[in-house]
Amino acid sequence: MSSSETMLQRSAPHPVPPPAPAIRPLQLRDRAPLHQLLTKDGLFTREEVSVALELIDGALAEPGGEYRVLVAELAGAGVPVAGYVCYGPTPMTEGTWDLYWIVTHPDARGCGVARALVARMEAELRALGARLVRVETSRLDGYGAARAFYERIDYPVAAVIPDFYKPGDDLLVICKRL
Ligand SMILES: CC(C)(COP(=O)(O)OP(=O)(O)OC[C@H]1O[C@@H](n2cnc3c(N)ncnc32)[C@H](O)[C@@H]1OP(=O)(O)O)[C@@H](O)C(=O)NCCC(=O)NCCS
Repeated sequence: MSSSETMLQRSAPHPVPPPAPAIRPLQLRDRAPLHQLLTKDGLFTREEVSVALELIDGALAEPGGEYRVLVAELAGAGVPVAGYVCYGPTPMTEGTWDLYWIVTHPDARGCGVARALVARMEAELRALGARLVRVETSRLDGYGAARAFYERIDYPVAAVIPDFYKPGDDLLVICKRL
């Protein structure tokens, strides 16, 4: 190796690691950015957006209640809210929780935001003695990213109900044992 090559290697800048997402509880000021996020890329129907907002409002009205929300911020992403997760205890079960909704802002995807949200949620649930986390999602193409995501973070499919949402649109029940 020539001395100039060695110099080049030595002086090459270290790759800058991407900033870690900061996870925090939901605040009232998050409602408008979350509304914008839910309508951003047309993934969710009007009805789904309205249900998602109802859960957010429930979490704001009663912290630590039926619906809970964690919010992610990502330095440099240029958005007030990089993503959020909504979850809550599953009625009539012991230690089972539902992950109702998880969304990352399109400008912040692939940066570990959703993984960080789930990790923080799981840490909170373990501290509460939770055993299982259930997620229900659709097999339809629009949700392909979600399926890949759950597979990657070790949330396996536990059951499939064919044609559940409509003909050709199966329900996937995904379940993680904590
Ligand atoms: C699914 C979603 C939440 C993933 O968010 P994200 O912040 O980009 O995910 P992360 O960066 O934390 O990714 C975590 C892992 O999942 C993988 N992953 C995420 N999206 C993926 C995709 N589209 N295809 C393949 N793998 C993917 C990542 O590679 C990563 O794996 P690694 O940590 O081993 O490298 C995001 O794409 C989204 O908001 N989609 C629209 C809403 C939605 O479908 N929500 C779920 C149903 S409510």
